[in-house]
Amino acid sequence: MDIRLASLGFGNVGRALVKMLDEKAAELERLHHLTFIFSGALTRTSGGWISTRGVTPGELAAGEWPGGSLPVGVERFEGDSRAFAAGCPAEIVLELTPLNPRSGQPAIDHIRAAFAAGRHVVTANKGPIAYAYPELRALAGEHGVSLRFESAVLDGTPIFNMVESSLPVTTISGFRGLLNSTSNYIRSRMAIGDALESATQDAQRLGIAEADPTLDLEGWDAAVKATILANVLMSADLRPADIERSGVSSEAMLAKEQALPPGHTLKQVVVCCRSEEDGAVRASVHLQALPESDLLAHLSGMETGLTLHTDTMGNLTIIEGKGGPGQTAFGLLSDLVWIAREFF
Ligand SMILES: NC(=O)c1ccc[n+]([C@@H]2O[C@H](COP(=O)([O-])OP(=O)(O)OC[C@H]3O[C@@H](n4cnc5c(N)ncnc54)[C@H](OP(=O)(O)O)[C@@H]3O)[C@@H](O)[C@H]2O)c1
Repeated sequence: MDIRLASLGFGNVGRALVKMLDEKAAELERLHHLTFIFSGALTRTSGGWISTRGVTPGELAAGEWPGGSLPVGVERFEGDSRAFAAGCPAEIVLELTPLNPRSGQPAIDHIRAAFAAGRHVVTANKGPIAYAYPELRALAGEHGVSLRFESAVLDGTPIFNMVESSLPVTTISGFRGLLNSTSNYIRSRMAIGDALESATQDAQRLGIAEADPTLDLEGWDAAVKATILANVLMSADLRPADIERSGVSSEAMLAKEQALPPGHTLKQVVVCCRSEEDGAVRASVHLQALPESDLLAHLSGMETGLTLHTDTMGNLTIIEGKGGPGQTAFGLLSDLVWIAREFF
């Protein structure tokens, strides 16, 4: 079965997905009878292309686009990103444009346009899920297509797919975790005496920090992820601005670091729970001094982790080692295989 993909955005994650689909092409064919080909891609500065014949991941990986010339045999695409989502000749649209932490746009519009044209969507972009999950889920249902977003939280670590496939009749009453690898990396460096500035610069050099690292350090990235987890796993109706972010400024971090009790480690912790009194779901991001007995205190460097509080399995914890575009690409690949199994 050939399945055509078109990618809105073709940066670190898009390139990592192409590489993984190329490396796994033989296994995808042998084990799942699936061949993924690219029928289009669009970027902000290098424009885009479409191809009815399709370009294999191997051809794309070997070429220079978007840095150099277009892949062989494709047509240049001249419209805007919404027109691309609606008009690209693909069964599945990949939404891989950057996070807009204030509104989730234009990615929400990209997904609406893809659904209206009858295309499934797989995204690693947190914005649309944090700001418009109930609407987009309903819209996907109306059009008989799927929206999958495993990579939106903790890269490709199976959270949403695990809950959906392996935790039937389970109620999740809350969660707690370290969801932002950049802040954990910087916290770990500061714990061994490095300065905030040099640790932040190194996080940017490693490509793990947002272009604006305050989104990581001041808890915005974690707040967006907490919103997604609460809305998807606990049927809440939060927005990132509803997540309390207290004492997470750089100044607060330096002050708390100096006042840290012996044997404790400072971490940016996300906590979410449903109130037993009024049933409301509330979440917060804060800097917490964790004792050695706390599992999260032991996550270092780029590690992240999440504990789900469930009524069937008690506390269930999943830890991601060093994450990045490769792991994010794997989350996309697992979503692609899921859609292929369900719909093709
Ligand atoms: N990197 C990770 O490990 C990771 C992990 C989890 C989730 N994510 C999420 O995955 C998404 C992609 O991340 P990335 O690291 O690949 O980002 P990136 O390297 O910055 O690439 C973004 C791509 O989107 C293009 N783009 C920007 N605005 C666009 C628009 N309006 N229409 C079409 N294309 C547009 C960019 O084009 P130009 O280059 O021309 O600007 C670029 O090709 C983001 O939402 C990110 O938050 C990333």
